[in-house]
Amino acid sequence: MAMRSEYCGLVTEALMGQTVTLCGWVNRRRDHGGVIFIDLRDREGYVQVVCDPDRPEMFKVAEDIRNEFCVQVKGIVRARPAGTTNDKLKSGQIEVLCHELNVLNAAVTPPFQVDDDNLSENVRLTNRVMDLRRPVMQRNLMLRYKTSIQVRNFLDKLGFIDIETPMLGKSTPEGARDYLVPSRVHDGQFFALPQSPQLYKQMLMVSGFDRYYQITKCFRDEDLRADRQPEFTQIDCETSFLNEEEIRAIFQQMITEVFKTQLGVDLGEFPIMTYQDAAFRFGSDKPDLRVKLEFTELTDVMADVDFKVFSTPATTKGGRVVALRVPGGAQISRGEIDQYTDFVKIYGAKGLAWIKVNEVAKGRDGLQSPIVKNLHDAAIAEILKRTAAQDGDLIFFGADKGKIVNDAIGALRLKIGHSEFGKKSGLFEDKWAPLWVVDFPMFEHDEEEDRWVAVHHPFTSPKDGHEELMATDPGKCVAKAYDMVLNGWELGGGSVRIHRADVQAKVFEALNITPEQQRAKFGYLLDALQYGAPPHGGLAFGLDRLITLMTGSESIRDVIAFPKTQRAQDLLTQAPSPVDEKQLRELHIRLRNPDAVKAS
Ligand code: AMO
Ligand code: AMP
Repeated sequence: MAMRSEYCGLVTEALMGQTVTLCGWVNRRRDHGGVIFIDLRDREGYVQVVCDPDRPEMFKVAEDIRNEFCVQVKGIVRARPAGTTNDKLKSGQIEVLCHELNVLNAAVTPPFQVDDDNLSENVRLTNRVMDLRRPVMQRNLMLRYKTSIQVRNFLDKLGFIDIETPMLGKSTPEGARDYLVPSRVHDGQFFALPQSPQLYKQMLMVSGFDRYYQITKCFRDEDLRADRQPEFTQIDCETSFLNEEEIRAIFQQMITEVFKTQLGVDLGEFPIMTYQDAAFRFGSDKPDLRVKLEFTELTDVMADVDFKVFSTPATTKGGRVVALRVPGGAQISRGEIDQYTDFVKIYGAKGLAWIKVNEVAKGRDGLQSPIVKNLHDAAIAEILKRTAAQDGDLIFFGADKGKIVNDAIGALRLKIGHSEFGKKSGLFEDKWAPLWVVDFPMFEHDEEEDRWVAVHHPFTSPKDGHEELMATDPGKCVAKAYDMVLNGWELGGGSVRIHRADVQAKVFEALNITPEQQRAKFGYLLDALQYGAPPHGGLAFGLDRLITLMTGSESIRDVIAFPKTQRAQDLLTQAPSPVDEKQLRELHIRLRNPDAVKAS
């Protein structure tokens, strides 16, 4: 006889009167004095099992079982008595009258009740096996699977083929630190785990595979946040002979179909916004368009005001002055403004000037602010005009180097938009807000090190006609690069690549990578580009981020079975951990600070 006939969560009225055999875990056992109810759980959901004392042998077993025991139930499906149905459950109209109950395996007392939704993350990650039994985690990983199989089917239909690339390889730079693997065979030498399959997929294009994809792990040793993991999964794609628009169209359709099928959501059109516009209007290259607040540019207005806080950045190269008008914001208290001031300081802002607009019609006299005394009439009039200020508004100001203003006021925009006040005042629209951000700059200037660095990665093609700018004015050089952004998260990004060795060499030159370094690091790519490399391009999505957004999870860790903490540790297996001296010796490694291991 089969061990199981149905999943617990899928027993419905359709099986009324039939005998079923179920296997699952005891979510709760409720003893109603005389009758014992068991909420039996498996990956598909719950079913209510009723154990009557008129079958003493079975009832004896029911009395002894505890939460999280793994049991087998044989019984008859019957309707729940009127008034006891549960419309939230698939199995909510029925219950199973138990005839036979077998304990398949007992369980010690679990660290927490599996349906408790208020657990600390540390407790959850330390007890991940039990944590993964929680229905929400089962749902998250199920959606992850369903999404990735849909992605595979979508790409397969379009002729993309899945080709695996090495985990042990040479460094592929995506701007993070490498995870290194020491070689036992080659004393003193190391593999790098891939930050992405970038260079391998480009070489596959040179090899003529035409369309490649892979759902694969990438490794980046970088500071972790809610949307970052040291090892994460990319849906990585590359095609030959398609231009930017064609590539974007394919992958917009892919994401649109995934949302339609998995969530029943129509994402609609994806606006296309240039990087310039995004930075200008929202101070971000991944604007959250659900927040209805925008910057107002004031740099040109502030050049001749007495207020040095504004006039200095307004007259300094790279400086910027902006306003952020908050409709209805006059009700924000002084205390809250102080909190916002502390908040923007995290992003390097030195302060947060503001004006409360009590009565626009009265001009200067209708305003309440610590700074209006420092601004001449024309500047005040221009602020009110450009921001289209209304009575009852609050206007914030950021003045500093462009990057600081963008980061600080961009973050403030989100903070206010997502606040209770913002939601109450209609500054936040609860919807899906996808867009493409395009025309990224090729390079940005690293102030600390005084050198140009690649914004995307150094294999990204400049726009046609921008090749010469790489040498003459790198800051002006625009790339054929695009990011897909959803609700303020960078979901994916890619570019058309450089397919000619001479152009690639120019990029390396702009980045100050010497020909010797080029050969040592990327010689294999430069060689490949010489054998008739086709024009090609692609992109990669962060699968973890995609699923985090789709499931509405707070953290990327909630859609990964065995994630790392913010401190890049696995609390379940206690990795990383020390290794034997013998292993180190084989790898030709001596620890510089053996005491650190004991201390950590
Ligand atoms: P990029 O570095 O933008 O591009 O990465 C692509 C996507 O991967 C996701 N992602 C991450 N997710 C979780 N944790 C991380 N630490 C992390 N880092 C990145 C993001 C991001 O949009 N080779 C290029 C792609 C290409 O040009 O084709 C690349 O890796 O969702
Ligand atoms: P101060 O004259 O330095 O006292 O500043 C007057 C107001 O300007 C205060 O509200 C400060 O928070 C604000 N402020 C100071 N520096 C900046 C800045 N860089 N950007 C925006 N506001 C600022």
